Amino acid sequence: MNTDSDRNLPEKIPQHVAIIMDGNGRWARARGLPRLAGHRAGTENLRAILEASVEFGIKYLTIYAFSTENWSRPETEVSGLMRIFKNAFGQELRNLHENGVQLRHIGKLDRIDTPLQQKIKDAVELTKNNERLILNIAFNYGGRDEIIHVIQEIIKDGRAPEEIDDELINQYLYTADSPDPDLIIRTSGEMRASNFLVWQGVYAEWYFPTVYWPDFGKEELRKALFDYSERERRFGRVSPGDA
Ligand code: IPE
Ligand code: IPE
Ligand code: MG
Repeated sequence: MNTDSDRNLPEKIPQHVAIIMDGNGRWARARGLPRLAGHRAGTENLRAILEASVEFGIKYLTIYAFSTENWSRPETEVSGLMRIFKNAFGQELRNLHENGVQLRHIGKLDRIDTPLQQKIKDAVELTKNNERLILNIAFNYGGRDEIIHVIQEIIKDGRAPEEIDDELINQYLYTADSPDPDLIIRTSGEMRASNFLVWQGVYAEWYFPTVYWPDFGKEELRKALFDYSERERRFGRVSPGDA
């Protein structure tokens, strides 16, 4: 992993970047390839983005890999995707670990086949003390599913209604130990949340590059960071100049 410091960067780097990695299917179709070839290219691209994220000083990266709705795709695509993830895990885990990446899973493990579930659990355990980059993998993740999970757990724990506030809910989210995302990127030109970080994303800045995910490389990420650095995040207040 190349971690040379790179000076061509804005001063203000988002602490937490989240990415909806969209457009693999269209990338493949544009080349006359099967959709799974797009998913393979997309998975390979992740390596470059992880390296760039470490290099650019991003602390938390959350990637949307498979949504609770993606089970509705044709069986061959779902099983192909599972196979690609399994292989990628096998190939990349050591490298990620050696480079100080801590893997976390957000979402439900239940519908995932047992060998892949085990791989995910082992990877989380292996990397739990790494601190250079926290990588949240949203896999079988849905924002509404997460909120339902939070409510169920809060009830199970017998919490009193007066105890329930933002902070308590944050503790029960799949992302419990991550700050809210500062920047959410969705590739491929689509402009919607598709059930991603429904609670956490309320004040995120959004960025919608038109390139498909397999073509969203390091320089595209740099552009996103420059774009972000020009945003004024007001959180409901007024600009300092107007106060
Ligand atoms: C995103 O690419 C990857 C997953 C949802 C797993 P898509 O597969 O959604 O690609 P498009 O949107 O059909 O081009
Ligand atoms: C969102 O993309 C999910 C992931 C990228 C994993 P989709 O391609 O599934 O979303 P829709 O169906 O276009 O909203
Ligand atoms: Mg899509």
